[in-house]
Amino acid sequence: MNDVVAARALHVLAVVIWIGGVSMATTVALPAVRRGDLGPDRLQAFQAIERRFAWQARTAVIVVGLTGFYMTWRLDLWDRFRTATFWWMHAMVCVWLLFAFVLFVAEPLILHRHFPRWATKRPEVAFAWLHRAHWVLLGLGLVTILGAVAGSQGWSIF
Ligand code: HEM
Repeated sequence: MNDVVAARALHVLAVVIWIGGVSMATTVALPAVRRGDLGPDRLQAFQAIERRFAWQARTAVIVVGLTGFYMTWRLDLWDRFRTATFWWMHAMVCVWLLFAFVLFVAEPLILHRHFPRWATKRPEVAFAWLHRAHWVLLGLGLVTILGAVAGSQGWSIF
């Protein structure tokens, strides 16, 4: 079972890097960008941070997915997806799918194309929207972590 222990350790490490980064972006970087603390060009300040973190987040999402499905297959946990008691298993997959879509599809195809124009025309509204979207993603990530750690120890609200 050493392989499952290694997979779990890698899974949690990648979750820490990924959701920790989202937390930093939401609670520290974006408020500073919005207030102009990182310079008057808010778009440039945001992109300088986002460009560097996006690759860390994408790598972490891949590692979390591979290790997560590996554990599910190795421990034969597929039945968990049939019951609400294991809502946190569904939550993990949903959060993973959501972030995979955001990082691999929405960000390169939509955000990079349209956000700069929007942020130049109406910076207050554009950055407020971006900040709100980060709060939603962070909230979902944190609830999932709480549910998964408690749930894998046998604790569930259902
Ligand atoms: C494809 C997506 C994912 C799959 C298939 C998956 C699968 C798993 C499995 C099988 C476990 C072990 C459960 C157990 O021991 O009973 C686990 C643990 C865990 N997962 Fe995921 N996971 C996924 C995504 C995520 C995401 C997106 C997060 C966080 C936002 C996350 C956070 C955790 C945490 C915190 C644990 C508990 C580790 C522990 O306390 O030992 N997982 N995951």
